[in-house]
Amino acid sequence: MRLTLEVWRQTDPADAGRFETHVVDDATPEMSVVELLDRLNESIVEDGREPVAFESDCREGICGACGVTVDDRPHGPQSNTPSCHQRLSSWKDGETVRIEPLRSGAYPVVRDLVVDRSALDRIVRAGGHVAIQAGTAPDADTTAVDHALAEMALDFAACIGCGACVAACPNGAAHLFVGSKLQHLASLPGGKEERGKRARAMIAEMEQDFGPCSSFGECADVCPAGIPLAAIAVVNRERMRVVLRGKNN
Ligand code: SF4
Ligand code: FES
Repeated sequence: MRLTLEVWRQTDPADAGRFETHVVDDATPEMSVVELLDRLNESIVEDGREPVAFESDCREGICGACGVTVDDRPHGPQSNTPSCHQRLSSWKDGETVRIEPLRSGAYPVVRDLVVDRSALDRIVRAGGHVAIQAGTAPDADTTAVDHALAEMALDFAACIGCGACVAACPNGAAHLFVGSKLQHLASLPGGKEERGKRARAMIAEMEQDFGPCSSFGECADVCPAGIPLAAIAVVNRERMRVVLRGKNN
């Protein structure tokens, strides 16, 4: 399978960047977008040139490292699928694949396809954790939690922090990401005590770097963790709870 790649090259944050065109003529439909970049880099290195910088780790859809924009869409053409699982069967022999970094004002390009997503880390640092003494793992095992509630918390905890939701949003909003954290932590006994304090801190930090949500819904369509749009409503609900009712827990 022969594919033409238009791949973004940018030496550092100050460089304007540009697309570079390459041909990979031994791709297979089973390969992923990330493996296509591996194959491209093999030939670039053979030519004695700098390989394309990109991130990946697990290649199993669980670490969130690999997000790139493929043909103008975060992660690629298949919905709810990370870049490391986007198969080349989405393209026909002879077609062109365009790969560039995740695009958002909150994600400055570091080099080539690598972006700085530390704005997401700052939101988590502001409150996306349990700070009280919640005991040890055996203590958690002895705390009764309604099964349906635990399942719901796990569904929202599935966010892998890839940042694609922000890149898909015309407003650059991070509500899907923030709502997933707020909901899973507020649902379980260990996280309930700081519910209001957490919401206040995380939402304030979110508003430093990310835009408002207009409920377009593009975020949920690209999310590889399948976080539902309901997460957006969670942000608004938690905001109202702390603003109107002054809740800290
Ligand atoms: S909500 Fe989905 S798209 Fe957004 S960071 Fe989490 S896993 Fe990625
Ligand atoms: S490399 Fe970990 S999610 Fe893709």
